[in-house]
Amino acid sequence: MTAPAPQADSFSKGLAGIVAGRTAISSLEGDLRYRGYSIEPLALAGDFEETAYLLLHGELPNGGQLAGFSARISAAARSLDPAVIDVLARLAKAAPDASPMDALRTVVSVLGQIERDEAPGSRQQLLAQAERLLGQVPAALAAWIDLSAGRPVAAWPDGPIAAALLARLTGRTPPDAHIRVFGTTLVLYAEHEFNASTFAARTVVSTGSDMHSGITAAIGALKGPLHGGANEQVLAQLAEIGSVDKADAWVAEQFATKRVVMGFGHRVYKDGDVRAKLLGRLCRDMVAGDAAAEALEALAARMESLMLDRKNLRPNLDWPAARVYHALGLPICVFTPIFVVARMSGWTAHIIEQVGDNRLIRPMSLYTGPAPRDYLPITGR
Ligand code: COA
Repeated sequence: MTAPAPQADSFSKGLAGIVAGRTAISSLEGDLRYRGYSIEPLALAGDFEETAYLLLHGELPNGGQLAGFSARISAAARSLDPAVIDVLARLAKAAPDASPMDALRTVVSVLGQIERDEAPGSRQQLLAQAERLLGQVPAALAAWIDLSAGRPVAAWPDGPIAAALLARLTGRTPPDAHIRVFGTTLVLYAEHEFNASTFAARTVVSTGSDMHSGITAAIGALKGPLHGGANEQVLAQLAEIGSVDKADAWVAEQFATKRVVMGFGHRVYKDGDVRAKLLGRLCRDMVAGDAAAEALEALAARMESLMLDRKNLRPNLDWPAARVYHALGLPICVFTPIFVVARMSGWTAHIIEQVGDNRLIRPMSLYTGPAPRDYLPITGR
């Protein structure tokens, strides 16, 4: 029996506007909501573990549940398998300039091999794997940063992920105000429905493959500059422009050469990204009084008005996130890996949801190649 012919009228390039599944994890209709809760109070609370628990379990934790969840994540961060450190140490010698995103993709693959993760297990097993990944991945990121700089791996500090990771990446004990805004970025980055990396993860596990394979694919998808990689490109572009007086000419040149301006536009939000508005406000408050950071904010404000006037495009979350991370003293190369740390909560929640009600994800394509033709043996070509 032959397959039915694909219908041209159901085709949408890049799957734009196509509903590709159901989810109970987050919704972008009107307001962004995680499990029904509006993003704003979650983000302002800035408690990443609370949000990760909500995404994975469907309900906000009580005090005891949150303490247990946080303790298990911390324990996973502190007990990274020595085989992972060995692999990272060898890679740091062989390719110290490699992207930390490549290191994280490798780490998750190695962790899957160590765990002998072969097929999705019970919901309980998947939740335990998710908790371990939430701790292992930030610890591996910090380990890679140490090793690629030629330093021994420092210990993972006690406390919540936001405080511990910020301390490890900056090498200092961060002030509470910095931990709070960093936690807010993790909550904002945690989950966003059927984005490219989440869809990649769901596609992989829909075949019956394992959690670590799904996450490895997701990290690869997030790395691209049209997705998570944009936050690093935002700062690179702002540095390239240099100052507010150069913004108009720079933007004109980008448009003339048909290049995209990173941190603007979104597949779903056409009237602006609620997360960008919220974090942009916090960023401006955080840097008030710092002359260099205020100059960067002035440049950012000019860019926003140019992009709106010329292209009707508004900032997405990566636009303020890049400036916040820069103001926190973080190097550009960890911006997208921080997104990985946060989105691990959304990815694992989606993998668990997909496995719980699975059907193989396998769309169709419209064929545009040559008309049927006869094979010619090589001697006759
Ligand atoms: N800079 C310049 N032009 C942009 C743009 C940007 N950041 N984002 C969109 N456009 C243009 C497109 O080129 C297109 O122009 P055209 O009609 O002349 O071809 C038009 O705006 C409409 O874009 P659209 O097709 O709706 O975008 P998309 O849904 O296919 O892509 C993004 C969405 C996010 C990939 C895109 O906006 C982009 O590349 N942004 C920059 C990267 C980024 O910030 N990524 C993070 C996303 S959260």
